[in-house]
Amino acid sequence: MPQNPYLASERGAPGRIGWRIHYFAEIDSTQEAARELAAGGADQGTAVIAERQSAGRGRMGRTWHSPPGVNLYTTIILRPPIPLADVPCLSLVAGVAAAEALERDAPGIVALKWPNDVWLRGRKAGGIIAEAVTDARQELDCVLLGIGININLAADDIPPELRDKATSMRIATGRPCDRIAIADSLFNRFDSRYMETLTRGFESVRPAWERYSALTGKRIAIVDGGRRQSGVVRGIDGTGALLLDIGDRVERIVAGEVSVEGAYE
Ligand code: BTN
Repeated sequence: MPQNPYLASERGAPGRIGWRIHYFAEIDSTQEAARELAAGGADQGTAVIAERQSAGRGRMGRTWHSPPGVNLYTTIILRPPIPLADVPCLSLVAGVAAAEALERDAPGIVALKWPNDVWLRGRKAGGIIAEAVTDARQELDCVLLGIGININLAADDIPPELRDKATSMRIATGRPCDRIAIADSLFNRFDSRYMETLTRGFESVRPAWERYSALTGKRIAIVDGGRRQSGVVRGIDGTGALLLDIGDRVERIVAGEVSVEGAYE
């Protein structure tokens, strides 16, 4: 394994976020490396970071553009004592941690697009995926929380089909940013917000999520399989579901295989 530039960010005892960081120069997906480590009994908080992913993946079967040396690709193993149904909430908690971690270098321009995109000036700079691993009884064994943040990606290196939707810290702020410092801050902020969620519930983190919400007050469309529903976003509830005002009532939209349309600025 190459020398790990993230070693100095390892902290705390097993169980704390980032207590152990496995580093790879190139890998298919940090999700798969974390899956193997988790199957081998790795403790909660174990993280995998890669310089490059050859098969980085996003939500809903999409690929995650993962060129070398510019961005952050990480997966954190979580072993939360929560029911399977509560797992989507963890990606919202990670969104808050990511927004807080980026705030220092990008003050005032960070936002969260439900369910789990990190935006800078109205374009996507980061994404989060929470994959649940279940045991033989179909109960939650662990969660593989994947976070990808475009940090020093240059505008010319964004694939043409994503150019009007994607950005990076460097593009949005006009300055290169320190990936190691951002990873360190992300692990720190997520450790704090995750422990808060486990002790006090998602309700405690919800106001922070709402402060970053890019969609609240906006008209959007939700696409769920073949079904399309449009309305005005009223925020999220205490379970992390999106509240969509469709005129005669407010619908709860649960994060899952849904996509949000019509929200780019
Ligand atoms: C999305 O917005 O669709 C979620 C993107 C998640 C990307 C990260 S990068 C690190 C981890 N490894 C992967 O293959 N995917 C996640």
